[in-house]
Amino acid sequence: MSKLAFQRCINPGCGAEFDCSETLVECPKCGELLDIVYDWDKINVPDKMSDFAKRWGTKDNRLDFSGVWRFRELLDFCPDETKVSIGEGQTILQLNDGLAKDLGVSAGRLHLQYEGMNPSGSFKDNGMTAAFSHATMVGATASACASTGNTSASMALYAHSCGLKCTVFIGSGRIAFGKLSQSMDYGGHTIQIMGDFDDCMKQVQDVCKQLDIYLVNSLNPFRLEGQKTIMFRIIEQLGWEVPDWIIVPGGNLGNSSAFGKAFMELKQLGLIGKIPRLAVINADGARTLSDLYNDKKLRWNGGNVDQGTIDAYYAELTAKNFSPHTCASAIEISRPVNLKKCLRALDVCNGVVLAVTDEEIVNAKAQIGLHGLGCEPASAATIAGLKHLLADGTIGKDERIACVLTGHQLKDPDVTVNYHKDSQGPFSNPPVECANDLDEIIKLMK
Ligand code: F0G
Repeated sequence: MSKLAFQRCINPGCGAEFDCSETLVECPKCGELLDIVYDWDKINVPDKMSDFAKRWGTKDNRLDFSGVWRFRELLDFCPDETKVSIGEGQTILQLNDGLAKDLGVSAGRLHLQYEGMNPSGSFKDNGMTAAFSHATMVGATASACASTGNTSASMALYAHSCGLKCTVFIGSGRIAFGKLSQSMDYGGHTIQIMGDFDDCMKQVQDVCKQLDIYLVNSLNPFRLEGQKTIMFRIIEQLGWEVPDWIIVPGGNLGNSSAFGKAFMELKQLGLIGKIPRLAVINADGARTLSDLYNDKKLRWNGGNVDQGTIDAYYAELTAKNFSPHTCASAIEISRPVNLKKCLRALDVCNGVVLAVTDEEIVNAKAQIGLHGLGCEPASAATIAGLKHLLADGTIGKDERIACVLTGHQLKDPDVTVNYHKDSQGPFSNPPVECANDLDEIIKLMK
């Protein structure tokens, strides 16, 4: 039982607290989301972020090698013995002046945080290492998640590296094949539900409750602790400086929530001087956050979020029998479970939200590719969103920007191939057919 950290309900009117040895995905008293809270006075947190650099020299220690656990004092909820790691978080922040030039951003200012370099090819591994470390601490034997693909791939990888069973719930026909192939290979028990992600999310919560299975969706507060480290690594790679903007795609809103918490805590600890601004980008076909934040003006409001506005919005979706649709299947979600935590992050980070079309997403994806880094469609929503934010003056060309490319290019080859083969997009690059003849081939080379 860790005394350094505890769980607390995010609802200020409740604020109930629970030990970290309990496995909870909602407050048992009021049903709200839970946070992990630390007793910083009892934790030996370094005086400055750059002190973490000492761990670069001790990479033969598995926890110092991990891009998550080398920051372990900032997520100190379990003992080292139960920390599960498969070398996650070896990701890069690429300065991309080529793309910057295309977008009209000054040289040296646009960075791409490529989370596709994780063991399962997406940012999810940052969270899964934390969730499975907690699962190991509490002695869980089986895990489950609902997924648009990446969570399931990551869960199956971690579950089987630390000996837990795992079951994946996916919406039938709603998952990119690259991701499905991963969870099958990693031995995940896969259940395809005739429905979308939101249907799966509801079912898996009930299944986990009834069968006492460890849920690893981002409702799990321990998972989000791991995802904070994406921000720590951005700061690390900027020479321990904070960027002006973080841009992230928004689906179930776990990342944005974790990033906001990371900056809140770093500021509280005096480890950073300023908090960057946050831009969360929805796909147009799954634009709940954008609708609620921009049109309905829903705000964190000190934790007193207007539940009536959310309920009315969801009732409208139900009445319309609405199911989200976007080529960025990773973020095809209309009832994001972390909505309230994301509103808190937007409050802390003076955030903005917008939605981009599928056409904008596939064009941005190809453009990122042209400048030397691949990503899956959802990740490209960041660059598609950045174009709008530059155009309307929200982001200035000299500001330092970090876009989180959440998943690997090979996760969803169908979207890529279709774009290049069929679309008349400005960056389409279709293969050219040719006879099996040297002269004909040489003609094409000119
Ligand atoms: N980008 C990618 C590549 C994702 O897989 C996801 C979420 C997101 C962005 C959205 O992140 O939920 O933190 O806002 N994928 C989940 C899954 C839902 O099941 O793999 P979020």
